[in-house]
Amino acid sequence: MKTRTLLLVWSVVSLAIPALGEDGYRFWLRYDPVPDQALREEYRRQCREMVVLGRSEVLDAARDELLRGLKGMLGQAPPSVPKASRDGVIVIAGSQEGREITDLGVLGTDGYLIQSRRIGGKAATVIVGRTDRGALYGAFRLLRLLQTRESLERLNINDEPAIALRMADQWDNPRGDVERGYAGASIFHWDHLPALDERYTDYARMLASVGINGIVLNNVNTAKNGLTGWKLITAPYLPKTAALAGVFRRYGIRVYLSVNFASPMLIGGLKTADPLEPAVQEWWKNRAREIYSYIPDFGGVLVKADSEGEPGPFTYKRSPTDGANMLAAAFEPLGGLVVWRAFVYGKDRNPDRIMQPYEIFQPLDGHFASNVAVQVKNGPLDFQVREPVSPLFGAMPKTNQVLELQVTQEYTGQATHVVYLVPEWKEVLSFDTFARGRTSTVEAVVSGRLFGNRHCGIAGVMNIGSDRNWTGQLLAQANTYGYGRLAWNPDLSAEAISREWVEMTFGTNPRVVATISGILLKSWKTYEQYTSPLGLGVLCDKEHFGPDLVHRQKQHHADAEGVGYDRTLETGSGFVAQYRSPWKEIYDSLSTCPEELLLWFHHVPYRYRLQSGKTLIQYIYDSHFEGVEEVRGFQAEWRKLRGLIDPERYNQVTEVLQGQLAAAIKWRDAINQYFFQISGIPDAKGRITVSEK
Ligand code: GCU
Repeated sequence: MKTRTLLLVWSVVSLAIPALGEDGYRFWLRYDPVPDQALREEYRRQCREMVVLGRSEVLDAARDELLRGLKGMLGQAPPSVPKASRDGVIVIAGSQEGREITDLGVLGTDGYLIQSRRIGGKAATVIVGRTDRGALYGAFRLLRLLQTRESLERLNINDEPAIALRMADQWDNPRGDVERGYAGASIFHWDHLPALDERYTDYARMLASVGINGIVLNNVNTAKNGLTGWKLITAPYLPKTAALAGVFRRYGIRVYLSVNFASPMLIGGLKTADPLEPAVQEWWKNRAREIYSYIPDFGGVLVKADSEGEPGPFTYKRSPTDGANMLAAAFEPLGGLVVWRAFVYGKDRNPDRIMQPYEIFQPLDGHFASNVAVQVKNGPLDFQVREPVSPLFGAMPKTNQVLELQVTQEYTGQATHVVYLVPEWKEVLSFDTFARGRTSTVEAVVSGRLFGNRHCGIAGVMNIGSDRNWTGQLLAQANTYGYGRLAWNPDLSAEAISREWVEMTFGTNPRVVATISGILLKSWKTYEQYTSPLGLGVLCDKEHFGPDLVHRQKQHHADAEGVGYDRTLETGSGFVAQYRSPWKEIYDSLSTCPEELLLWFHHVPYRYRLQSGKTLIQYIYDSHFEGVEEVRGFQAEWRKLRGLIDPERYNQVTEVLQGQLAAAIKWRDAINQYFFQISGIPDAKGRITVSEK
């Protein structure tokens, strides 16, 4: 009797205490036991057996994931049976079989239904996909319901992605490092491939769990400074790519590669890569066929051309359309897409660099082949903590557009600052371009809805690497998760996404959820406060990490009188003209320009009064002090979690926040001293003294 009581107590306690040995490897697919015994019993009754209708490797992946998740959370995996034999059956059905048991209505590609209903007289939870991939997404959704402790009663879920192409862009170099990667080395071991690593499967699971359906395996820079990404389309590498494609295919993810525009020369020994040269066209056609002979469902190619040393059609006085359409002709018969990046700029063009992509690409609207998509970064510059939305969105109605976001925190603190980027991405997606009147949002453009374009999408430059916890800084997993969730459903709130992520990652204790979610939701603005408020733009050093205002004068234009880049029509670069009304007028006027972008568009005197009545210079000073205090606040909040979450992950984040505080202080002091010196205006609160060098 005594032993039994003890055992019972132990089993209850062991279910309540978070598991030991936590290192973040299991990311949000942890599947720890449901601690509430009554709820666990209820779930068990609802998940007593499993029926899979249909056969495919994607359905196998769905089944395996369900078994794994249910075993972890409920302590037992339901047996697989050919047909429902008792109440509490989970039925998962692919495209064909699903139609026989339920009406899929107008459910879109990749969509799924989850319904509580009776099958063969038994109480069942039915997951049906429009495609097998949809069924896989439904399986992950069912698991998420359990992970977030939702009821499985009377389910009637009907879900489909808003955006068709949901891409993970790896900036991984085959030599093993990751450009702008802060989480260790590349997870892809090209030397060992086609031998597979378990981590590939876990990464595919991670991506599929949030609905990502494409991955670009290598960096957009493929040749500069001795990089060898260009080699990935050669015969020695294609079997390796094919092996990876096999892993990702099982999870509904198509593989793409970044290619070098000069490949016909680099690989083929041709004397030119001129897109109008028949030998070049022929070369690409053959190469495309060869790629598809290894990977029949190859997604296509991503091209960084005429940018930062990567070759492109400009070398031959040809346009991006000449270049992209030539590749498109090679890949079109095989079902491949050409994603051409608009991140193109050069020294001999408009001195306001951010105007160049629009000047180059907008006039080409209507000239791109139907299997070309133009991929545009969210802002006109380069992933700063705050930028206006790129004016190219909505300005190319006859062109497929893909929105490029940066999940890796290149300019937002890398792996040492907690910065949850979902609120920023939401602002981008909901920005109204006014391309077709109101509600012509970026989301409406890149979902293809606004202009009826077919190959639109969203791409995230990923933040994962070989570090045990995938993202270097543990809470950055919320960005990986949030990116995928937003790509699927841009209407989800930043808060809903953070709560989901915390619940799945740290458990459902309301105090834990509220605390971590609270930190995440403030963190983007906090980073902006102690680095670059009011749209100051790029202020960082060459590593894109710490402050270096002296070398960034051409960006912030600070002088003795004021600061900011004049981009107005009358006196400035005229960038505002790239926006449609009313944005053009709103940005052009100092009095209507949103304050968070003020210095992006205007050169403003230090004594200018902001809406609050504060002078510009005092705002800059205060913002930096406040940002640092916010980080101290994060630390205080985090300390409340001691004992509520496992010590390993608690300590990981404690350390990160310590580093973040030190870095925030450095930013604060560097920027405030710079402005104190250049303006000669003291801080009204007397906090700034110039350090002796
Ligand atoms: C930024 C980044 C580079 C990257 C480039 C791009 O400039 O610093 O590392 O290659 O963007 O997006 O192509």
